[in-house]
Formats: sequence, C-alpha cells, structure tokens
Amino acid sequence: MDLVLDGRGRLYVQLARALKQAILSGRIRHGTRIPPTRDMVAMTGLSRTTVVAAYEHLQAEGYLEAKVGSGSYVTAPNLSKSSATALSHRVAAQSAFSERARGICSLGAIPGIRDPSVRYAFQYSMPQLSSTISTEWARVVARVAPYVKPNYPAIQGLPELRAAIHDHIRTNRGIECDPDDILIVNGTQQAVMVTARVLINSNDPVAIEEPQYFGTRQILQLEGADVFGIPVDEHGMRVAELSSRYTKLVCVTPSHQFPTGAVLSKARREALLEYAHGNHSWIIEDDYDGDFRHDEMPIESLHSMDPHGRVIYIGSFSKTLFPAVRLGFVVMPRGLRGDFLSAKWACDFALPALEQVAMTEMINSGTYTKHLRKSASLLAGRRRAMRQAFQRPPFEDVRLTGANAGMHLMAWLPELEHQDLRQLLALAKEKGVGLYSAEPFFMDQAKVPSLMMGFSAIHANEIPIAVGLLGECLHACRAGAKAPRPKLTIV
Ligand SMILES: Cc1ncc(COP(=O)(O)O)c(C=O)c1O
Repeated sequence: MDLVLDGRGRLYVQLARALKQAILSGRIRHGTRIPPTRDMVAMTGLSRTTVVAAYEHLQAEGYLEAKVGSGSYVTAPNLSKSSATALSHRVAAQSAFSERARGICSLGAIPGIRDPSVRYAFQYSMPQLSSTISTEWARVVARVAPYVKPNYPAIQGLPELRAAIHDHIRTNRGIECDPDDILIVNGTQQAVMVTARVLINSNDPVAIEEPQYFGTRQILQLEGADVFGIPVDEHGMRVAELSSRYTKLVCVTPSHQFPTGAVLSKARREALLEYAHGNHSWIIEDDYDGDFRHDEMPIESLHSMDPHGRVIYIGSFSKTLFPAVRLGFVVMPRGLRGDFLSAKWACDFALPALEQVAMTEMINSGTYTKHLRKSASLLAGRRRAMRQAFQRPPFEDVRLTGANAGMHLMAWLPELEHQDLRQLLALAKEKGVGLYSAEPFFMDQAKVPSLMMGFSAIHANEIPIAVGLLGECLHACRAGAKAPRPKLTIV
C-alpha cells in the first residue's frame, strides 16, 4: 500500500487523511480489508497508538467498519449515503432564476406527445413524419459530414445557411433583409431566450397572446419578464386592449395563432405595428408553421409589412422538418445585431456545423421545398377530413377554430365543464383515441373547455372513424353532465 503522509498536523491525522484519499480515489476499494494495525505499524514505522487513532478516526467518519475477530473494512457506502442525503435534501433556490424556475411547474414537459397505447392519436406536438424525408436527411448528413470544417463554427451561424434561409424567406414569406441580419439558433426556444436577454430587464412588461405557446411564455418568465395575456378572438390578438398599457415586447403568432389557429387581421396587424412604433416596443413574430400554405391565400408575414423595423421574425424547422433537427433562425433588428450575437455567444458559443451544412444542402437542393409542398397537400386533405367529420351529429354544438391551415385545429366544447373534459379524455382513451386538452396553453382557465386536435399522426382515412369514436364519448359525457351533480354542502 503506497501511502504518503503530507506532514500537515498530527501523525494520526496525516495517516487518516492519506487513507481517506486512497479510498476516495478508488485506490483502496469498497469492501477491502485494510492491513491490521500491527502490519500498518510495520509498513509505516508509526507507533501503534497513532495507527489505532487513525483507524478510529476513519471509523467515526464512516470510511472504515471494524468487524470483531476479522479486521477493518472500507465502507464507502457511508460516504455515498451522506452525499445522497445531501443531494436529495432540497436546498432553497440559490438564485432569482431558480426561484422563478421552481414556480413554473410544467417546465420541460411537452404536452401533446403520443400516448403509445392509443390507436388513433390526435397528437399535435410532432409534425407529420415521413420516412422519405428522414431517409433523405440521413443521406445528406452522411454526404456532407466529411467536408464539415473542424474549427469553431461562426457564432451567427454558417454564412451558407444564412444565405439559403435568406433566399427562402424572401421568396416564401416576403421578408426583405440581408443574410447578415439572420442569426441561426437551435429553435424557437433559444430565439426567444436570446431576444429576451437583448431586450428585457427584470419585471419589464411583455404581452403575449392568451392562449399562447407555453414554451415562449415560460422562457420569458424565466428571463424575469412580467408576462401578461391579451385575449385572442377569431381575428387574432385583440390589439386594441394593448393601447391602454405600455409593454416592452409583444409576442404574436400572426399567420396561424397558436393554439386557436386565428389569423391576425390586416387591421390589427397595422394597429400592432403602429403601437410598437409609437411606444418604442418590439414585436416577436413566431412564424412556426408559416411555411405551410393555407387553404386560402397565403398569409403575408408581419415582418414584410413593418416599415419601422420593430418586428423580430422567428422561424423554426421543428414543424416543417422535425424537432430533433433543433434548428431555427431569427431575423434581427439591424441596430441590435451585436447584442444578439453577444447573447447567442453566451448561450453556446455556436451551433454544431454538421446539421447546419446538411440543412443548407436540403434547402439549396430543393428537397426542403418539395417536402413542404408534399406535406402541405397531405395536411390539406386531413384538414378537409376533420372538418367533414365534425359536421355530423353529435358535434352540432362543437366549435372548430384554425381549420384553414397548419397541422392541428381546436375544438371548443361549450356544453361541457372542465371536469367533464377529463372524463371525456379518459373515455376516449378506453376506446383507443388519444385526445389532448388545450388547458396547458391558457394562463387563466378558459371559460370553455377545448381540445387540441392534431392530425399530423393520423391518416385521412382514419379520421372519420376516430372522430366517430370521439362522438360516442362526447354523447356519454353529455348524458353524465346533464345528470344532477352532487351538491357541495359546507357544515
Ligand atoms: C407556437 C410554436 N412556436 C414554435 C414551436 C417550435 O419550437 P422549437 O423551434 O423550439 O422546437 C412550436 C412547437 O410546438 C410552437 O407550437
């Protein structure tokens, strides 16, 4: 046994310390029998009193266990027990950030993920997956991998990807900008975080649609913003309700409001742009599925209507390709480019180059646009099937919104109460239908219960069957809802 005494303090303390280090570094393993005191005396030349004192010290600290008639054994578990206790014992939040994070209960949870036990899933958090696009992505990644430069990628994102995105959004979304205005990020989540760090001080007011995409709301809250909701109706955010109060930033999904699917009307777009200009406020335009053509006229981006440069446009490939690709982009206001780059650098220095090169290739080769066209046409068929299926009894009272674009619609059930909705979800699950409440997207409880009806994972032929089963469950719930409810009596 190779033990070095460090000459600090009394001899028994030095021996105990040397043994402890050997145990902690793994040189003496858990369960090992350490030399009897007599042998240790012979090995080290220390007195027996010193060795016994060192062993007793280690026993007291839980590193050694003495077994009568057998010797002393290393008991590392004592150490892990104490550290496990230390870890499992909840410590008070150490920063304002952690304090806020602890207040946000659903942090990191992704609602709307497919429940594998159901046959028909109206899931909405995943785009429509096609084996063709996954195979193409795999081929492109393999093809470009040998040419990826091994040095640190540019903080702002690879210039070739920025150029490809620039051309794409100019053609498809009417956005006039420079490739240098584009910042590549790893999705909307990071886009919002970087934007918040550039614009928001603690407790700055930020307006968000109510209901809204929970990811955006939670990031803003984590960054310390004072987030408040502005109601949405069939024409999008009720912009007039903003006029009475100041807000530093307004977050909107104008092309296809998430989750209601409303399109922000032209008049409200103009009013919002005027508001931002007049109040020196900023606007985040989250165009998460703007690349999918609508049944009606394609909706122009808010950014393309903005003469004052107050709109920060955010795009993501999560819905148009798949979320695992973790790529998105921000069109930055020119005067704040440096600040955006500082905030992005602080997040992660730069994004991996391989995915960026592969994405560039997907766009430049036309594969991405082809995929968009194919997906859009498939989704349009499913939207039609959804609308038709809901036109029959027993859905007369059900109101659908957002059925003219995207990959989900919202079904409002005015005759049910929230507790009936939970029952509806349970009944549907028994029949093999995966339903998802829209509740996670409301800051305050909605007046009317509603469902998110995604159709990216359900074939058009299956839609009438699945909606039929939903009808049966709704019928059963209504019957239950009409039965007298037990009254709460307070005595
Ligand atoms: C409104 C909205 N924006 C953006 C996203 C995509 O987020 P990310 O790019 O971080 O994957 C989603 C995903 O569900 C969304 O619903």
